Amino acid sequence: MYKYDYIDQTLVNERVIQFKDQVDRRINGTLPEEEFRPLRLQNGLYHQRHAYMLRVAIPYGLLSSDQLRTLAHIADKYDRGYGHFTTRQNIQFNWIKLEESPAILADLAKVQMHAIQTSGNCIRNITSDAFAGVAADEYVDPRPVCELLRQWSTLHPEFAFLPRKFKFAVCGAKEDRTILLCHDVGISLKKNENGELVADIYAGGGMGRTPILGSLIKENLPWNVLPSYLTALLRVYNRFGRRDNIYKARIKILVKALGPEEFARQVEGEWASIKDGDDNFQQSEWDRVAKHFTKPTYKTAEQISTEDLIQSALENERTAFARWLERNVKAHQVPGYASVIFSLKPHGSVAPGDATTEQMLAIADLADQYSFGELRVTHEQNLVLADVEQAKLLELWHKAKAQNVVLPNIGLLTDIIACPGGDFCSLANAKSLPIAKAIQERFDDLDYLHDLGEISLNISGCINSCGHHHVGNIGVLGVDKDGKEWYQITLGGEQGNHASIGKVIGPSFGAEQIPDVMADIIDTFVKHRTADEPFIETYRRLGVMPFKEAAYLNRSKESTTGAVV
Ligand code: HEM
Ligand code: SF4
Repeated sequence: MYKYDYIDQTLVNERVIQFKDQVDRRINGTLPEEEFRPLRLQNGLYHQRHAYMLRVAIPYGLLSSDQLRTLAHIADKYDRGYGHFTTRQNIQFNWIKLEESPAILADLAKVQMHAIQTSGNCIRNITSDAFAGVAADEYVDPRPVCELLRQWSTLHPEFAFLPRKFKFAVCGAKEDRTILLCHDVGISLKKNENGELVADIYAGGGMGRTPILGSLIKENLPWNVLPSYLTALLRVYNRFGRRDNIYKARIKILVKALGPEEFARQVEGEWASIKDGDDNFQQSEWDRVAKHFTKPTYKTAEQISTEDLIQSALENERTAFARWLERNVKAHQVPGYASVIFSLKPHGSVAPGDATTEQMLAIADLADQYSFGELRVTHEQNLVLADVEQAKLLELWHKAKAQNVVLPNIGLLTDIIACPGGDFCSLANAKSLPIAKAIQERFDDLDYLHDLGEISLNISGCINSCGHHHVGNIGVLGVDKDGKEWYQITLGGEQGNHASIGKVIGPSFGAEQIPDVMADIIDTFVKHRTADEPFIETYRRLGVMPFKEAAYLNRSKESTTGAVV
């Protein structure tokens, strides 16, 4: 994995010293809150409902075991013993004391981590495929490009005060696991017919109150001109993005207003003057960075069939192990290896995406023992050991069981993405976490969940859509009416290659109704599905009506609200 050089390390160390001084001045009263606010946000420190929240970047989702141990230490020493992994490969700590925040940044700097640009109207953490470098369906390993872009965008003086925050995702595989089309800019890497690395650029995607999928604005862009092209793109946005209205400030609104063709034309115009300039990446830069992403020293490992793996378990364990192999273990590029997903979604006990200090420490040890000391964070708020020998899967499963991270629910109804909602977030209209818990408790039968197959269920506590409800097959959105919490259901969203935005089915429901409403939607699916048809396909075949009728049947008008449809 990438190791900081002198420049990276100096920059991060100096940041810690600057921030300590800013915090000291805030505490002794010489720096007023309104002046301190932008400074703390530049270092990922928010002020939330109960306390300060620190968001720490995990660039392209890659962590070393020592970095995870440091996160565990921060959770233990400065928080309440857990951290919350997010949908954009960050980790958030919810109970931070202002006076301790510089010490946390200093601890992070020791393991080459930071919170720079995890907030503010700048280029945020660059996210990518959690299976980068190992996925069986990969065209190109996206991580060297991600790292080059990280270095290019960090503290870029021209893009420190954009009209609004700006999010990149980079993908290099057949299946998009990054929700590329829901990013301000999505970069899809591939090889052209001459074997050269090129990128397709999508712009103007995002969720929030105006969900829009990104549009393809440039095809086959050579990798080395990414900085000049993206500079041109950001300049067009910087100049014409709306600064008068926060709800219309994202690039998606500009791209929509101009139309993708006109936006692309303006970017080309701006690019013409800088495309051959000094901004572009040199081959030597690629070589410097790419050498950090070479393959680990894989063994010549025996390839074992799933059947044989299952047989190697004790008879009374076989069903559980087989389920885990089916849902939580993914194909690998190298024969005899597999990638393992640890579910951070135990049914009904903790917030989706939370990991305790103890779990983080244990998982760091497992990464050392079974996966070359590295881990990944997924967009779905789970953790991955990317390089596990198939022959060790059973042993790993036994050890990971003790940490409560082997629930075989990856991609199933209870693998819920949920934002922190009203329990922590000061912008929330409603709580998300108790809704996730209630649904997980209601759908606790693993046989049934496996029979239902792939269904994504995403929950956001307000229209900002941090929980990505728009792209869940089933989305739940917290809304506020008369000071009470209500929940609106969307259906038909999807992430990935066939990304789509879900549609609202009608008036919102009270919290206590949601598990029953889900049961009615799922029953309708089961009634109408053909063979093993996934939920999204049944929905697309039938449209919203049967689901909507089921959701509202027997539910009196008084118990739902027509507030926000
Ligand atoms: C699990 C934690 C969180 C994650 C993963 C997250 C990430 C995201 C994502 C992916 C969106 C969707 C908008 C888009 O795609 O363009 C979003 C929207 C937003 N988030 Fe968060 N966020 C989190 C927590 C918070 C918190 C605690 C705050 C409060 C300060 C916040 C403030 C916002 C705002 C204001 C928007 C709307 C942005 C816009 O549409 O312009 N988020 N966030
Ligand atoms: S969706 Fe709303 S409630 Fe949830 S974390 Fe984002 S801003 Fe907060």
